[in-house]
Amino acid sequence: MPYKLLFVCLGNICRSPSAENIMTHLIQQSGLSDRIVCDSAGTSSYHIGSSPDRRMSAAAMQKLGFKLQGQARQFQRSDFQEFDLILAMDRENYQNILYLDSTGEYEQKVQLICDFCSQYTLQEVPDPYYGGSEGFNQVIDLLMDACGGLLEHITSQESELRS
Ligand code: 4NP
Repeated sequence: MPYKLLFVCLGNICRSPSAENIMTHLIQQSGLSDRIVCDSAGTSSYHIGSSPDRRMSAAAMQKLGFKLQGQARQFQRSDFQEFDLILAMDRENYQNILYLDSTGEYEQKVQLICDFCSQYTLQEVPDPYYGGSEGFNQVIDLLMDACGGLLEHITSQESELRS
């Protein structure tokens, strides 16, 4: 069974699809595609079925050279069982995920993605939706840092992934 990661934001059209695509890219580069898999979801139902935001995809293309793939879906309770680690983009997403875990059973599985940053000190990935292109570029920079740290964390913590 591969180790399963779920990235979560509000709409699942900007931050979490970027995180999913960046992490998948890093996993592929490391030759771990059969051992770590990624998905993403939104806490809201606003954009269910939508492709990643064009502005977000343009920033990914410009900074990373690839397009963002995906179709928005809403986070659901069954995701707690389905995934090994759930990464929230900001504190509001984090709280909204934990509201759905009424017994606290899965609290250990939910973390803020910025906890894995090593270059940036921001604790949340700022919501870029109502801002300009700088915000979208910042999302990519922050997530490259966080996802690199996350991959290191997983490969060092998960015994089945250590070579
Ligand atoms: P995301 O960005 O949570 O990073 O996907 C947003 C997308 C849509 C909205 C807000 C944030 N919205 O309000 O529709």
